[in-house]
Amino acid sequence: MLHDPNRVYVFDTTLRDGEQVPGCQLTTPEKIEIARELEALGVDIIEAGFPISSPGDFQSVVEISKAVKNPIVCALTRANKGDIDAAVESLKYAKHPRIHTGIGSSDMHIKTKFNSTREEILERAVEAVKYAKKSVEDIEFYAEDAGRADVRYLAQMIEAVIAAGATVVNIPDTNGYCLPDQYGEKIKFLKENVKNIDKAIISVHCHNDLGLATANSIAGLQNGARQIEGTINGIGERAGNTSIEEVVMILKTHQVLGLHTNINTKNFYELSRMVSTQMRMPVQPNKAIVGSNAFAHSSGIHQDGFLKNRENYEIIRPEDVGFPSASIVLTARSGRHALKFHLERLSIHLNKEELADAYHRFLTLADSKLDITDEDLLSLVAAAKV
Ligand code: KIV
Ligand code: ZN
Repeated sequence: MLHDPNRVYVFDTTLRDGEQVPGCQLTTPEKIEIARELEALGVDIIEAGFPISSPGDFQSVVEISKAVKNPIVCALTRANKGDIDAAVESLKYAKHPRIHTGIGSSDMHIKTKFNSTREEILERAVEAVKYAKKSVEDIEFYAEDAGRADVRYLAQMIEAVIAAGATVVNIPDTNGYCLPDQYGEKIKFLKENVKNIDKAIISVHCHNDLGLATANSIAGLQNGARQIEGTINGIGERAGNTSIEEVVMILKTHQVLGLHTNINTKNFYELSRMVSTQMRMPVQPNKAIVGSNAFAHSSGIHQDGFLKNRENYEIIRPEDVGFPSASIVLTARSGRHALKFHLERLSIHLNKEELADAYHRFLTLADSKLDITDEDLLSLVAAAKV
């Protein structure tokens, strides 16, 4: 089968990087429920856990492997045999297993986390990939803290792990440090300078410490990466990971990029709510794509423009991400057009003078009350009639 060069693979790590957040821990049945929804969403890879980290995590990988059939199920390891053995064992029921192994690549990590040298770390990276490859065909290698790594050393490491059998090479911006053009340049350098880079898929895994995770992921894709790693709602360590829903909707909205995924975007909203509830992690109202205000229009100027043609203020249709509907929120900043819209929704049709009168009384009410309900509107009109 010919590989589509414009296809972007979506790697979900909600159940691994996302679940590392304090207070977000899930039980195995909860993880299975989310994994099934991720399968329905159409993600290509589910990172189900870090099996050596706890018996519960190990068991979750086993049960998710049994529960899903289409996505690749991936297990995380450090670059050592014990971790890899546990991951291999946990994936024994997976229809499409993948081991995700790796090690630090920045001088900071090499010196102060591993107390080691570039040469030794390179050897450990290659050994880990070769060892994992004996049991599982699909091996993803991560070069932790690649965002701060020297790009020539990173290229040497990536070349060596591809030669050892890595099928996917993950270039994480572990600390959310890079600017989009820096991260994009790094991916471009690897694409242009690593021997046999086309034998592996380059993956982007960005953290959001500076609020740049989505922008960096897109920069990586524009420069040749074809797998994006992230989580639903962008949950994850510290400020979180790249939001899958954001990257997917950017690719869909900007078709000029020529890239596409296999995601059923209509499932986003429901899955976002499920993850938020189960992980006890509220979604901020202004969160792109899935926040409760993402499709709410509240100022008079926007409401008027939206009611004339929704595309004036809507670049994504709410129904495309499964959002219930766009809303025109009535506030003291709303105009007559918005009030008329809501009255007509309640089958109340006023002439020009009646509307002007109702609007005048509406403003007085909206100045003293934040939440204008249908009952408020009905009383407002009833009062005018007496
Ligand atoms: O952020 C990171 O570097 C990671 C790796 C383990 C892939 O999560
Ligand atoms: Zn991460």
